[in-house]
Amino acid sequence: MGLIVGIVGATGAVGQKMLEILKSRNIPIEKLRLFASERSAGKQVKFDNIEIEVELLTKEVMKEKFDYLLFAAGGAISEVYAPVAAEAGNIVIDNSSHFRMVDKIPLVVPEINGHILKGYKGIIANPNCSTTQMVMAIAPLHKKYGIEKVVVSTYQAVSGSGYRAIEELKNQLQDENYPNKVYTRKIGRNCIPHIDVFNENGFTKEELKMVYETHKILEDDSIEINPTAVRIPVFYGHSESVYVELKEEVDVEEIKNLLGSTEGIVLEDEPWENKYPTPLEAAGTDFTYVGRIRKDIFNPKAISLWVVADNLRKGAATNAIQILEKMENIKMEG
Ligand code: A2P
Repeated sequence: MGLIVGIVGATGAVGQKMLEILKSRNIPIEKLRLFASERSAGKQVKFDNIEIEVELLTKEVMKEKFDYLLFAAGGAISEVYAPVAAEAGNIVIDNSSHFRMVDKIPLVVPEINGHILKGYKGIIANPNCSTTQMVMAIAPLHKKYGIEKVVVSTYQAVSGSGYRAIEELKNQLQDENYPNKVYTRKIGRNCIPHIDVFNENGFTKEELKMVYETHKILEDDSIEINPTAVRIPVFYGHSESVYVELKEEVDVEEIKNLLGSTEGIVLEDEPWENKYPTPLEAAGTDFTYVGRIRKDIFNPKAISLWVVADNLRKGAATNAIQILEKMENIKMEG
């Protein structure tokens, strides 16, 4: 018997990626249902060579029986519809930020804290794309050495803002005068140090997500994290420059061995051979790539890393589907 799976926001950038990944990871599906707004209801979407009609999202339909509902339609939609689905006994894997910091709701990167899903039913939160790839790289370091402080700058692709942003960048690369609608500035040939809204402390909401989601996933509020999140004119794949101060002096070779043998991480670190990760090469894959690992010149307890992942895949759809896989594995283990 296969699974009954629903995707809310199935016509969006993340929703479409979820369809692709359900297929490529051979998730055993008995029935797949796709939901969107009245703009897309009635359209046909292809999955595994079968045309599926997009259904209108309603509260009533969320009360029907699903094994998993994957939400990728933004926080406002999750806020209204995810609790209805969960109340009806369905497992919801939510890609929005709406429930991430709610105490009883697990925030999960399966390779790091998938074990907390044992015995759980209800809404499960998928972390922010920038958080996911950063914690993939720093969780093994925290476990082995303990982390004091992280200073991170992001270089984020426009696909994180959905299809309209992808179109906006395409148009601005062809026509310098094409107006900006999604972003506060033109993103073509530019970079914008502003992702999500500003908080009164001067950090953006995206940056604060990297702080508090990391604390929750690593179960340690004592780590000092200072992020700057920047949008750049790349279509797919976020990059991050991450400076990490550890609790003890470390050996770079030991860290390379540790990260190179961590599930989900690919070490690409031979800079003298021009080997380091870039978003163009990471796009379309499910891994988190780490390179440029080097010890700080002044602080023997600190290292720098360059971390790259496909924001729509490991940063969103892949991680959500890995949560589904983890739940299924837990079920099979009894
Ligand atoms: P629709 O195609 O009907 O607009 P993106 O992140 O690429 O902008 O995609 C957002 C996704 O969320 C799309 O699938 C979009 O569907 C869906 N969505 C947006 N608003 C609603 C809504 N009110 N009800 C259901 N789905 C929605």
